[in-house]
Amino acid sequence: MWQRYKFYLFIFFNQYKGAIKQTPTLYYLCKSMLNDYLKYRKARVNAHGIHSPFVFEFYNEIVKKHQTEIDPKIEALRANLVRSEKKISFNELGAGSRKGTEKERTVKSIAKHAAITPKFGGLLARICRFYNVETVLEFGTSLGIGTSYLAKHSKRITTMEGCDSVLELANENVKTLGYDHVKSKLGEFSTLLNQFERDTIFDLIYIDGNHRLEPTLEYFEFALNHSHNDTFISLDEIYWSEEMKLAWEKIKADERINVSLDLFRMGIVCKRTGQRKQDFVLKF
Ligand SMILES: C[S@@+](CC[C@H](N)C(=O)[O-])C[C@H]1O[C@@H](n2cnc3c(N)ncnc32)[C@H](O)[C@@H]1O
Repeated sequence: MWQRYKFYLFIFFNQYKGAIKQTPTLYYLCKSMLNDYLKYRKARVNAHGIHSPFVFEFYNEIVKKHQTEIDPKIEALRANLVRSEKKISFNELGAGSRKGTEKERTVKSIAKHAAITPKFGGLLARICRFYNVETVLEFGTSLGIGTSYLAKHSKRITTMEGCDSVLELANENVKTLGYDHVKSKLGEFSTLLNQFERDTIFDLIYIDGNHRLEPTLEYFEFALNHSHNDTFISLDEIYWSEEMKLAWEKIKADERINVSLDLFRMGIVCKRTGQRKQDFVLKF
């Protein structure tokens, strides 16, 4: 039994190493997240527990192939950023990272605490490749790591970021990697959302910024209005806080959503009208 718990603890601490080290409410967070993680472990299924053909295919092609699409060039760029002691001014918007809200941060700290992990970056790239995703919208560019994974197999991507110095660096990073189909927008998400034409539709929308209840629901509403039946709406950090947990519950329960996929750190929903409404907790 203890061996098992040690394994859970190891995975948990590895995944949230940064937050655990920095937060003053360390104990509460560890306890609550560990509980959530254990619940997730208990509920998660592999291919044998999936009866929906769409989710079965998603599991086999996207979730199971977790080694593919982790990009050496993007990871080399990440490695450089994680070593960078360069300081940039950082006007933290939204709920922010648990790393704090200081006005100046090192690039190293942002790369360590805000960027998508290789595992989830690879997952987004696989979705784009397998489902022929052409148009993408990303909430929260940060240093452009997630943007780059999304850009790998898509045709047009728009990414939004509120902090100018971070976005400047992200633009450089994305350019260095040779992705010239990325359009970045600087500003507060809610303001930028008003600038999209009503009939703009995306194949994938990645919500990864301002992890609070009301804003997340507002972004989700926008996502629904700008998606087709098969659009993937992906939300990061669905167990990050009580507010995010509530947001995830509400999104899953929304009657316009028929498929929800819980990968613990990330949640993905699709409208898929015509399919029986079902929630899946997938082993990843
Ligand atoms: C977790 S980071 C994004 C990481 C990135 N998606 C990746 O995968 O590497 C969240 C970013 O969203 C930005 N952000 C948060 N709330 C925002 C808001 N209300 N408007 C604009 N930008 C915001 C923050 O400045 C931060 O850089």
